[in-house]
Amino acid sequence: MSKRNLSFVCQNCGTAFSRWQGKCEACGEWNTLSEEGGDRPGGGLGRKPGRGRLFALEALAGEAHDAPRLPCGIGELDRVTGGGFVRGSVLLVGGDPGIGKSTLLIQATAAMARAGHRTVYISGEEAVAQVRLRAERLGLRDCNVELAAETAVEDIIATLSEGTTPRLVVIDSIQTMWTDLVESAPGTVTQVRGAAQALIRFAKKSGAAVILVGHVTKDGQIAGPRVVEHMVDAVLAFEGEGSHQFRILRAVKNRFGPTDEIGVFEMTGAGLHEVANPSELFLSERDLGQPGTAVFAGVEGTRPLLVEIQALVAPTSLGTPRRAVVGWDPNRLSMVLAVLEAHCGVRLGGHDVYLNVAGGMRIQEPAGDLAAAAALVSSLANAPLPSDAVYFGEVSLSGAVRPVAQAASRLKEAAKLGFKGAVVPEAGRGERSEPGLTVSEVGSLASLVADIAAGGRARMAAKTRGQYG
Ligand code: TYD
Ligand code: MG
Repeated sequence: MSKRNLSFVCQNCGTAFSRWQGKCEACGEWNTLSEEGGDRPGGGLGRKPGRGRLFALEALAGEAHDAPRLPCGIGELDRVTGGGFVRGSVLLVGGDPGIGKSTLLIQATAAMARAGHRTVYISGEEAVAQVRLRAERLGLRDCNVELAAETAVEDIIATLSEGTTPRLVVIDSIQTMWTDLVESAPGTVTQVRGAAQALIRFAKKSGAAVILVGHVTKDGQIAGPRVVEHMVDAVLAFEGEGSHQFRILRAVKNRFGPTDEIGVFEMTGAGLHEVANPSELFLSERDLGQPGTAVFAGVEGTRPLLVEIQALVAPTSLGTPRRAVVGWDPNRLSMVLAVLEAHCGVRLGGHDVYLNVAGGMRIQEPAGDLAAAAALVSSLANAPLPSDAVYFGEVSLSGAVRPVAQAASRLKEAAKLGFKGAVVPEAGRGERSEPGLTVSEVGSLASLVADIAAGGRARMAAKTRGQYG
């Protein structure tokens, strides 16, 4: 048997087989084999071997046009996309069920329609009446958005290709779409990939901006093949906590803009409202001026995230003092306490120590050491830390504060959320300045402890003067 006759190719690993089988023997994946043209001489298109079409090569130095953008008028959304939707581009919006993806996108299509563009909203999950009801609730009933409840990709593309090309097309959601070209059921990896491919081809050909809504699995991945994330031009993640009203839109990938911008929204009874000043919303949940809290500028994967660390240090009534920690590694707490004792003269042997990461977050990176230490010392010294400062840095056993990765994006996030100061490890200062943020460097934990204790003494002195002076 000649190799040239192999025509079933595993879509996962690319191994070719001469006949179809349920399981790929090379990678062990099931149902990934599909028939392909094989590498017959001349390819599958009937061309003469060795004769390709000639095309012109262009100089890199040629004229470049800025990607034509269509701002939708929702500032926070435009900020995340990098200034608006790019014509002919495809954007994937992922998020937990019920987080507000459909709400955000119907608001975006309505805003574009108000600006006089043709916009189409295709729902594969809800009936037209349901979409209308939501629009009514959002006060968007009079907007000229064209609606359909459809799931067949070929029909959708044929319909959209009629008449003037729409400027914006929303497909809610890609998991409900199916294409004739693929035989598997809707929602399967192959269908999602096939449907996405067809819609991407439509976007490139017609110049319409297409937004795909993607479901998110339990572990936070956009369901379906990761390959869809590679195929689209931008991936936005819509995040939020069930108990809170605010939602954060983050660019995870963006071929036409920055990926470290976030958009902040508030879910209200009348839809999503932009939060112009997220720091206010964020700070409103904190007990300002209380000792024992520090804001940690963390990074989750590639995403910067600010969280509050709360500490309570109180004299113990037990023989063995308690150490309780929620959301952080107990071993790291022991280590930080040991460094405080050994190098900073902080005696904690007679104190219970409680540490909590607010909002149910878990901090796994060592960069949280400095914020935890600051919260602990602040509680012990009864000295509140500046409420507009963030902390990050790794504490070593020698008591030194070590630099951590992605300092710039932590500072950028802090500045974005309205913080004014950052206490960070010593390292090349120049590259880490952010407008509006005062960066102060600490070389050792001992100097941070001295600073916090000095703040506590000054407060005591001021109080005493107030009482007696
Ligand atoms: P939805 O946009 O349907 O979420 P997704 O498409 O991501 O699944 O939003 C559903 C939630 O939003 C639902 O729990 C109700 C809430 N909501 C409001 O609080 N206010 C509103 O004006 C709207 C339309 C929805
Ligand atoms: Mg929805």
